[in-house]
Amino acid sequence: MINRRGFLGAAGAGAVALGGLGASRAAGGATVDVLLDEPIGTIRPEIYSHFTEHIGGVIYDGIWVGPDSKVANIGGVRKQLVDHMKRLGEVVVRWPGGCFADAYHWRDGIGPAAKRPRRFGRWKEVTEPNAFGTHEFMRFCRLCGDAPYFAANVGMGSPSEFQDWVEYCNAPAGATTLADERVANGDRDPFGVAYWGVGNESWGCGGKFTPEDYCREYRRFTEWVPEYGVKPYLIAAGPNGNDMDWTRRFFAKWVDGARAPLAAFAAHYYCGTTGHALEFSVDQWYEMLHKANFMETLIREQWAAMGEFDPERRVKLIIDEWGCWHPPGTEINPRHLYEQMGCLRDALVAALTLDVFNRHADKVDMANVAQLINNIHSLFLADGDKFVCTPTFHVFEMYRPHHGATSVRVEAQSPEVPFKIGNRDAKLFRVAGSASRAGAKAVTITLVHSHATEPVEAEVRLKGAEAASVRKTVLSHAELNAHNTFETPDAVAPMSADADLRGGSLRVVLDPASVTRFDVILS
Ligand code: AHR
Repeated sequence: MINRRGFLGAAGAGAVALGGLGASRAAGGATVDVLLDEPIGTIRPEIYSHFTEHIGGVIYDGIWVGPDSKVANIGGVRKQLVDHMKRLGEVVVRWPGGCFADAYHWRDGIGPAAKRPRRFGRWKEVTEPNAFGTHEFMRFCRLCGDAPYFAANVGMGSPSEFQDWVEYCNAPAGATTLADERVANGDRDPFGVAYWGVGNESWGCGGKFTPEDYCREYRRFTEWVPEYGVKPYLIAAGPNGNDMDWTRRFFAKWVDGARAPLAAFAAHYYCGTTGHALEFSVDQWYEMLHKANFMETLIREQWAAMGEFDPERRVKLIIDEWGCWHPPGTEINPRHLYEQMGCLRDALVAALTLDVFNRHADKVDMANVAQLINNIHSLFLADGDKFVCTPTFHVFEMYRPHHGATSVRVEAQSPEVPFKIGNRDAKLFRVAGSASRAGAKAVTITLVHSHATEPVEAEVRLKGAEAASVRKTVLSHAELNAHNTFETPDAVAPMSADADLRGGSLRVVLDPASVTRFDVILS
């Protein structure tokens, strides 16, 4: 197992090289052209969104500790989580599933907590106590400043159950019996839920529909959705990965006759694993990044297929579940199903994926990493009163200046990195990234440098402008599998410094296995 870069020594995050050209020898240079006058589209903050499901330790022990807990909480919601969520900007949180959504009856989760039914959990390993329901989820969203995205139950539910949920959430107090019930349950103000997913993975755990059968159901579910001042943003369950058959057959049915209201089509892409969450070879490091980078192909090909049926581009693409999914073995609590220790490798996957979304800001309306806490590609791990941010959290925070900015085209050139997938030769990009403009002067550039062991000299050229000042923030570590634990919460954390500016272009050394953000102020 080769997962130590050795030559950087054991200085950890403090070892990141922030010097200019010549500070370190690097093999094969890179150029990054930032085409400031070639806008792609506005980067919606929603592509930095989250996913929370009633599974393992996401809700119970993750978000929800309960109002009587000794763990610091605000009305039952874990306070440390709220404090950190506020650092990530105003985005969207998807709930209650996942597969759980297609077995969830929203009425189970309202009313006095002591009277709520206990159900056989969708993920079988626990009883669902329903202590966390619509009001508690909305409390969490409001505390964080985030918008809710509800996934409705198509698999075991009905159109009227869905429509009642919309009415319960959004009708003004006094308007209907359901609105009055919401008021009696503690929330006079409507929740104003705009994002509604109609089922989840309807090709699989959401009902094992054919695309045609699902499209029929979609029509029934969306035929009448009350507005109450909030235009519903209705989302259809899209493909498993890049399954073109699902997409083409769904859309062929959708255009055949009346087109049901449809704002977006939601694909899921888990790039899986290579090796283990924390034990992997250098080849497996590259293979993981390579698999993650398939998101680029998926977006291009799904978007092209959608365009065959929707040339006016009324329907946007959403990726409402994405991330690395490693085999079991690094759970911090055995009750936390699919919990995994996220390391530097997962942080680079997150960064390269977010860069892909930025580069496709004209197509992707929302993306939700799976999942927020204690599950799969988490930003946070928590157990009782212990709490830690994963390296992926730092990437999300580093990328915040992109929110709401205008994505501009980036051309990165560098020799590809050769590696092996089993016995097969493969190649991976060495440097990739994205850039955005905000206002007249501010430019944010984020770059992923994939090489496991060697730095690279890079020239970042701003086409059509000159930089007056540049700061850089770097996330890296000498160990490819470096991760944060309750005992060492800052093992992987970003470092900031001034960057080297020469005559309007930037000459930098990108550390091995790093994510770098440049904050540029134009002259
Ligand atoms: O995120 C875990 C599960 O993965 C979700 O419930 C499901 O939608 C997907 O298959």
